[in-house]
Amino acid sequence: MTKAIVITGATGALGNLAAKTFANQGHNIALLGRDQTKLDSLVRGLNLPGERLYIESIDLLNGPAVHAAARAVLAKFGSVNTLIHLVGGWTGGRTIQDSSAADLESMLNQHVWTTFHLLQAFAPSIAASRSGRVIIVSKPETVNPVAKTALYTAAKSAQESLVLTLAQEYRENGLTANIIHVRSIDAKGDGRGTSPAEIVAAMTYLFSDEANKVNGTRIPLY
Ligand SMILES: NC(=O)c1ccc[n+]([C@@H]2O[C@H](COP(=O)([O-])OP(=O)(O)OC[C@H]3O[C@@H](n4cnc5c(N)ncnc54)[C@H](OP(=O)(O)O)[C@@H]3O)[C@@H](O)[C@H]2O)c1
Repeated sequence: MTKAIVITGATGALGNLAAKTFANQGHNIALLGRDQTKLDSLVRGLNLPGERLYIESIDLLNGPAVHAAARAVLAKFGSVNTLIHLVGGWTGGRTIQDSSAADLESMLNQHVWTTFHLLQAFAPSIAASRSGRVIIVSKPETVNPVAKTALYTAAKSAQESLVLTLAQEYRENGLTANIIHVRSIDAKGDGRGTSPAEIVAAMTYLFSDEANKVNGTRIPLY
């Protein structure tokens, strides 16, 4: 059955593979990214007919724009089944004492505010699909903090909290919301970290009907 999958941050290495994988499985794809040039390049690689693709260059910090995008995706595909939220950005290497307020604000923007807007805008229609999925990728430091990672970890912890709470709020609707934990993404293929292929395989499982009962978890992939 064809489903509509919204992917953010799709112009990164992981998002790219996720978009290609779910497109090849026959699903409709909505790509929300900031950089039109990178989006255009990704779309060329997908080779999807226009009716199966929604692309929008959008700043996901703009709440009203995210709500408008959610309405547009729903109008185009008739339903929305899955949100794979992969917006990235990292800062670290400094103690809390040496960290700047600007860096904290930037991390909270990228990870918390984008997630808040997306969940508010898309969760009702995802829940209406009765087999909805929300997936993010995070780091095990949210459970076991390590020195000099406080700002990123604080933001990812708050993002995880939003997703795990959503998992509880919509559990009667067949919606599952889960987190994949990796220490790092091996985007260059040098064997350090978890490969995009390994992460997308986990996403494919979470997306499947067989994962209906997997909800509100942190899946360790490291
Ligand atoms: N990389 C790692 O080692 C690692 C480890 C653990 C968890 N993760 C998580 O895994 C996910 C994917 O990571 P990644 O390294 O593939 O990400 P990434 O390449 O750093 O970022 C992905 C995309 O996020 C987009 N983005 C940033 N802010 C945005 C905004 N306000 N609105 C719209 N798009 C925005 C960027 O678009 P532009 O190019 O247009 O700026 C970028 O293409 C992230 O959630 C990250 O936190 C990553």
